Amino acid sequence: FKIQRLMTSSDPVDEISMCKKDAMVLSHMSALVTKKDSEEYAKASLTTFAMDLMPRITRAQSMDVLSSQSNLSGYQAVIKGASNFNSAFPMMMTAAGTVAPAKVFIMGVGVAGLQAIATAKRMGAIVTAYDVRAATKEQVESLGGKFLIVDEEAMKEAETSGGYAKEMTEEYKKKEQEVIKKHIKDQDIVITTALIPGRPAPRLVTSEMVKSMRTGSVVVDLAAEMGGNCELTKRNEVFDADGVKIVGFDNLPGELPKDASTLFAKNLFNFLSPHVNSETKSLELDWEDETVKNTLVTKDGSIVSEIVKGVS
Ligand code: NAI
Repeated sequence: FKIQRLMTSSDPVDEISMCKKDAMVLSHMSALVTKKDSEEYAKASLTTFAMDLMPRITRAQSMDVLSSQSNLSGYQAVIKGASNFNSAFPMMMTAAGTVAPAKVFIMGVGVAGLQAIATAKRMGAIVTAYDVRAATKEQVESLGGKFLIVDEEAMKEAETSGGYAKEMTEEYKKKEQEVIKKHIKDQDIVITTALIPGRPAPRLVTSEMVKSMRTGSVVVDLAAEMGGNCELTKRNEVFDADGVKIVGFDNLPGELPKDASTLFAKNLFNFLSPHVNSETKSLELDWEDETVKNTLVTKDGSIVSEIVKGVS
């Protein structure tokens, strides 16, 4: 079991050489962007499972490492935003005067975005949110946030059958930029979480938008690892853009190590335990099980995952 992909001969440590032939490796492989590594795993006859390819079906929710870790990222993003912000979150009416509530804008309402909305609301902020998928509008509202609409018609077509976002048209992106530009200049904290599996993160926050924000505002970019949703993000840095802080840490679950490890381990346990024969106590994988079939990347010396094979 590993958290991240097994390192290869191109990395500082070659972990493949540490594995027995035919060993089984389960991890968050980032399989859609590490096809070259999978080719090496196949050559080494390793049986590898990418937990990040878990199908989005009800039965697999308890095995979903993307969900368990994104939820923590969403929470931690708000904490990072608050600690870098120069003011308080809730409205405070005191004898010395009134502190206005912080305005928090969440971009991308997947698992991380939803947790960010819930956390920011609990802390007393005024929360707005935006996503390309139509289903998210109701989810935002059910958490007490206000949804920012770009184009209701285009949103209906924005979701894949797997529940992920599709890459949007150039025309949509233009409209999106205009609406966001207007909205963002009045926000104190912007948290971006927008991702498209296997693709660079969509650019949603331009440097012009950052310039329009008030001094002391903060952008927390959860997509830093995939290139960033904000044009100015520097990976694993807090960048000061003329008074606006851009926070680009890519391992926020790692800042909550106890919860991250416990949930990740439980995901792996939930994936494997149905395949352990209770009498013999040995592992007997059902290769036809959807959760096994979808996550299996290499076996018997080749890449067997159609989705990984299809990556160019
Ligand atoms: P993700 O991490 O792939 O992306 C984050 C969010 O960014 C998504 O909501 C996506 O729609 C949004 N996004 C992409 N491009 C955007 C753009 N240009 N502008 C604004 N937003 C943009 O998504 P995540 O968190 O993995 O969730 C995707 C869906 O899958 C959600 O509906 C979630 O509830 C569902 N899900 C289902 C599970 C299951 O049934 N087993 C498990 C986990 C998630």
